[in-house]
Amino acid sequence: MPIEFKNDIFHMYNDRISYCIQLSEFGDLLHLYWGKRLEPEIDYPIRYRTGFSAPENGNMNYSLDILPQEYPSYATSDLRSSALELEYPNGNILTHLTYKSHSIQKGKPIPGGLPGTYTENDDEACTLYIVTEDTYNQSEVTLVYTIYENRSVICRHSHIKNTSADSIFINNASSLSLDFHESNYKYMHLCGSWSREKHIEICDIHSGIQAIDSKRGASSHAENPFIALLSENACEDYGDVYGISLVYSGNFRISMEKEQYGTLRIQAGINPYNFKWKLESGDTFTTPEAVMIYSDSGLSGMSHTYHSLYRERLCRGIYRDKVRPILINSWEGSYFDFNENSLVSLAKKSSDLGIELFVLDDGWFRNRNDEHGQIGDWIVDSNKLPNGLDGLIEKINQLGLMFGLWFEPEVFSPKSEVFAKHPEWAIRLPETEGHLGRWQYLLDLSRTDVQEHLINTLSNILSKHNIEYVKWDMNRNFSDIYSSALPYDRQGELSHRYILGLYRILDTLTSKFPNILFEGCSGGGGRNDAGMLYYMPQNWASDNTDAVERLYIQYGASIVYPASTIGAHVSAVPNHQVGRVTPMKLRGSVAMSGMFGYELDITKLSDNECAEIKEQIQTYKRIREIITFGTQYRLLNPFENRSAGWMFVSKDKSKAVAFYFNKLAVPHSPYRRLKLKGLDENRIYTVDGKQYNGSTLMNYGLWLPCDERDFESCLWEINS
Ligand code: DGJ
Repeated sequence: MPIEFKNDIFHMYNDRISYCIQLSEFGDLLHLYWGKRLEPEIDYPIRYRTGFSAPENGNMNYSLDILPQEYPSYATSDLRSSALELEYPNGNILTHLTYKSHSIQKGKPIPGGLPGTYTENDDEACTLYIVTEDTYNQSEVTLVYTIYENRSVICRHSHIKNTSADSIFINNASSLSLDFHESNYKYMHLCGSWSREKHIEICDIHSGIQAIDSKRGASSHAENPFIALLSENACEDYGDVYGISLVYSGNFRISMEKEQYGTLRIQAGINPYNFKWKLESGDTFTTPEAVMIYSDSGLSGMSHTYHSLYRERLCRGIYRDKVRPILINSWEGSYFDFNENSLVSLAKKSSDLGIELFVLDDGWFRNRNDEHGQIGDWIVDSNKLPNGLDGLIEKINQLGLMFGLWFEPEVFSPKSEVFAKHPEWAIRLPETEGHLGRWQYLLDLSRTDVQEHLINTLSNILSKHNIEYVKWDMNRNFSDIYSSALPYDRQGELSHRYILGLYRILDTLTSKFPNILFEGCSGGGGRNDAGMLYYMPQNWASDNTDAVERLYIQYGASIVYPASTIGAHVSAVPNHQVGRVTPMKLRGSVAMSGMFGYELDITKLSDNECAEIKEQIQTYKRIREIITFGTQYRLLNPFENRSAGWMFVSKDKSKAVAFYFNKLAVPHSPYRRLKLKGLDENRIYTVDGKQYNGSTLMNYGLWLPCDERDFESCLWEINS
């Protein structure tokens, strides 16, 4: 078993990593170590020391305010940030958790009602459950740690049980707390905005508290629920890196506190801001899962571990192990302006070029001719589609294409029939107008009747028509945060209950329709998180389809998420978001680096452009297995260079595909070579008809174009 308990130390280890917890003489769980594998026999107990802090049990060298802890709480004596904040009926907030019992079991649990990474057989992982109890009031907290046998991964979540006779409130419950003994790290996060998601930022850690968070009801475009701590000198391929990713799609916070003694406390979980959960006597609350990855080979080591874990043991369903169909999406090509004939012409051209899936985006339902239109009833618009969905789907299928449909289930507009019947289903204060976002209200997914309504409405459509792909969109964030179904003392539960409701709906629909490929979307990348991947194996990465902007977005996304989860399309020029004109070759290569598709009116393109598209499609069909299941190596960082590059290598290293993208031309720029990575150094590979040794490609590299033209790009197929 890779988890042992000896000499009061819990040691979780595999060949690569160790995570150690010391059980102190007073029953406190102290954080001892997380990093590269240590020998099983650990004898490095924590050094105690004193300070201007209240000691425990009269022991002047032992204060919780100073010691590194596993799941600290505030107010007894530790005055740093707390992982857990409980409030008891008389108003006291004192909690001090001490060890009660533990058990070690094979396998890995998934936090109830929430998404999580999983195992396919119990030998893949081992789990430690440490039960702690509060010495002040009555509550019991179980800390759950899983270590995977062959991955540098520790997963954590916790269960908080009310063992008192009265109800209590949880004001904060982190998924993890980590006390690092020193703070000489930088932290990386993925931030941005709508149309500029997942940009990489690397920041210093200063004294005091820093945090990234979302209070928007979704993980958000602005911050992704992830940080990495980079040790001094850590970079792409070298150095110690510690990744923390939340498997959660709602309000979250990851905080860092560099405190007075120079130690660093990290906490990650549901955002405590506007969170208050009433826990009845005997009930248990479960936190979302946090996935911790240690890498001694820099960011690439961390990303590879996230990629394989999320691709193989977070995504589920038949598409987890299948290459994805090349699609055409109707949105940027026609927006709301289409009819059956125009769609069939688009499908005809698509089929001629080798596209496999036709996706009808927004605008297919009644009175939806612009963003102000009706939404929420999901009744087909017979003006645009006189033969209904079936009439259209039949024609699309006859052309040899699969058919996919867009939904935005979580919203309804004031013009909808559902709203007329159920105005109380809107998230807003009754008797007020509330705020519309994109001219629509959010449905209150915390309500079981709303969940049932959506499950029934969507099941009805999906079971009646031959729909093989669903794009699940969500185009607004929270406002007027109030549920008419919750009592006053449970309003603080709304944001989390919304996400639990969403997860329940997604779980039901994806289990009921296992053959449908679901793609998540929230105005592009507003909910590109690990939580959604448990239900939908791919996410539309951004509404920004400009190839240059996508270099940043997709490079940033690759820090955590594998290419198999990233939807990427070729769109028209001038680009609709930024007006940039880039060559078809660049647009194709950038989109081929993810789950590939087109999103433009290809019926209006020249013969030459269509021929180029046809060739791109043939290329993608040859390489998509490597892109979907291979290992991605980042070669040139667009945030630091005037160009970008990455490559994908098949698991057996027999094949690879490398990409290079130049942004702007630099006259008379130096000759440069691109050194490849991840190949077998002793194998002979063929590139552009020439043979090279793997070590030559990785050490000498491939010559790059001179970059004397804007937006030059290369795609090399590498075969052995
Ligand atoms: C936002 C999405 O990100 C787009 O791709 C498109 O589906 C629109 N919504 C439709 O309203």
